[in-house]
Amino acid sequence: MRALVSGAAGFLGLALAERLAEAGAEQVLCVDNFVRGERDDAFRALCQRPNVTFLELDLAAPDAARRLPREPVDVVYHLAALNGTQNFYERPWEVLRCSTLPTFALLEAYATRPGLSRFVYAGSSESYASTVTRFGWQVPTAEDVPLCIEDPLNARWSYGVSKLHGEVAVAQGCRQHGTPFTVIRYHNVYGPRMGDRHVVPDFIERMRRGVYELHGWEDTRSFLYVDDAVRATIALAECAGARDQIVNVGSDEELSILDLGRRLLATIGIEAEIALHPSPAGSVRRRAPDVTKLRELVGFTPAVALEEGLRRTVEFYWPTPDRA
Ligand SMILES: NC(=O)c1ccc[n+]([C@@H]2O[C@H](COP(=O)([O-])OP(=O)(O)OC[C@H]3O[C@@H](n4cnc5c(N)ncnc54)[C@H](O)[C@@H]3O)[C@@H](O)[C@H]2O)c1
Repeated sequence: MRALVSGAAGFLGLALAERLAEAGAEQVLCVDNFVRGERDDAFRALCQRPNVTFLELDLAAPDAARRLPREPVDVVYHLAALNGTQNFYERPWEVLRCSTLPTFALLEAYATRPGLSRFVYAGSSESYASTVTRFGWQVPTAEDVPLCIEDPLNARWSYGVSKLHGEVAVAQGCRQHGTPFTVIRYHNVYGPRMGDRHVVPDFIERMRRGVYELHGWEDTRSFLYVDDAVRATIALAECAGARDQIVNVGSDEELSILDLGRRLLATIGIEAEIALHPSPAGSVRRRAPDVTKLRELVGFTPAVALEEGLRRTVEFYWPTPDRA
């Protein structure tokens, strides 16, 4: 099996590429431009594997499709995008560029000709978040929810609209060329090496500085550990029933951000009052996936409990020896 992983220096991409290489893929072609991913020890270890090839390429560049290798690939896992809430507000243009154009380049290079057994696209719960907020759609939310963005004038939605666009581009681009695809809608995947623009590493950093405060404490999310997300991703790519389907990947355990903060404090054994602040404007009040389809298709249930996943994540960002 020959796989291409875009965004392979990033959080999910690296974990996925590692797992594919470990499981004996003939070749894992990894692509990234380091707009966010890092050349850290984990990335260097991945590149040293004999069945891994790395290509540094800006998939949003006009000639990206032509610069991708011509050899056939069995599965494309397209994870390259620019996420991170701060990025949505501070550099929406780059978010739009990096979260739309790479999809065209990869579809052009691999889905418009025969041979690909699956084009897997990393979709996001952000593409329906507005439907839940604005129209009170049901939570936990199933895959048939209408996708929309609340306000094109709010930079917050630069990412959500890109992921919405990606689902349509992949579904229609692949369908027109008879290429099998699967859209995976990820819901708050967390774990070591997830960057610093997310509530989990952000709160760990605050705990480290002795600052116990949370924004949007009443909002709810569900969290899936990265190894589980990778396992679900590969299972769906190999599942005949997931062909041409949209599938939620996440946990159905919905909890408030305050509850998450308390669990993180408990992981380290800190007893402290948390100062609570309201959510920023445009933030999403509730989010949790209905994972019935995922369960039915591949029999998936998370293997890493939240307590254990948070323990591993805290250990990565704030190792025990540094806490003494
Ligand atoms: N992590 C989550 O909880 C989550 C939730 C929903 C959806 N997703 C989706 O899953 C995918 C992976 O997310 P992640 O958390 O690993 O993100 P990440 O930022 O860690 O990784 C994305 C990678 O894509 C690379 N990239 C961005 N633009 C590129 C370009 N133009 N050319 C080449 N590489 C480029 C970045 O450098 C980065 O290494 C993304 O598509 C994201 O939208 C993730």
